[in-house]
Amino acid sequence: MKIALVGYGKMGHMIETAAKSLGHEVVVTVDVAAKDASALVSAGDYAAVAEAVKKSGAEGVIEFSHPSAVIGNLNALIPLGIPVVVGTTGWAKNEAEISSLLEKTNGVAMRSSNFSIGVNTFYKIVEEAAKLLSEYSEYDVAVWEAHHNQKADSPSGTALEIARRVMKGNSSKTEMVFDAFHERPKANELHVSSTRIGSVPGTHTVFFDSPADSIELTHRARSREGFARGSVVALEKLVAKLASGELSRGKLYGMEDLF
Ligand SMILES: NC(=O)c1ccc[n+]([C@@H]2O[C@H](COP(=O)([O-])OP(=O)(O)OC[C@H]3O[C@@H](n4cnc5c(N)ncnc54)[C@H](O)[C@@H]3O)[C@@H](O)[C@H]2O)c1
Repeated sequence: MKIALVGYGKMGHMIETAAKSLGHEVVVTVDVAAKDASALVSAGDYAAVAEAVKKSGAEGVIEFSHPSAVIGNLNALIPLGIPVVVGTTGWAKNEAEISSLLEKTNGVAMRSSNFSIGVNTFYKIVEEAAKLLSEYSEYDVAVWEAHHNQKADSPSGTALEIARRVMKGNSSKTEMVFDAFHERPKANELHVSSTRIGSVPGTHTVFFDSPADSIELTHRARSREGFARGSVVALEKLVAKLASGELSRGKLYGMEDLF
């Protein structure tokens, strides 16, 4: 497949390697700052991003840029009608806007805050654990994550999804709190805390704690290659499922629709 990469930073470079190793051709790399990108555009010029992708003849787009640019990029890319895989995090609040653009333009996109197979399995384990322990009121629960000090958003998109799964499994937790507490947490509050340090590719822990014991479930990413490969496989699956009629255009999909 001919693939366009929008955002040619750390992830963009890894995705290029993964795409090539899976037999695809990277026809354009678009960035606002990376000197080695094949199309260098001005920051904020989203029309130029879309133009570069259109000109390349790409059959699929993978977008890993910056939380401040992703919505501009998507508004420009989706009307092209080419399937878009979005890895950039930090735009959950704009999902309804992007879904309605997809419907209006008959475009198609999928997004995941984490393309690792391990993490997507971890979501299910966490939801089940939260459900099992929710029957015992002595168990409290919290979510913690650590990432490298270049990450622009916090908490991570993955931590937010983990927190959503905890709340799905344990209905007594109804509100996420991201800041430090300056008073005792209320029983319905789920603490989701973040640490930014060094080069950590991504660690997520769910703590269950009772007066008698504690259970800690941890997913630790070893490198970012798994995310890169996962995003290419997601694009392959999206295109294949559209061709087979299993998925239809006009929608925003997630990992659960593809894997
Ligand atoms: N979903 C996942 O599995 C996953 C995994 C890792 C990282 N991420 C996310 O992917 C994003 C990128 O991560 P990274 O480590 O590659 O960051 P990075 O800073 O190394 O690279 C981002 C690149 O995007 C470029 N950019 C900024 N605005 C742009 C625009 N409008 N058009 C094109 N390019 C633009 C920057 O110049 C930079 O080169 C972040 O949001 C990160 O949280 C997601």
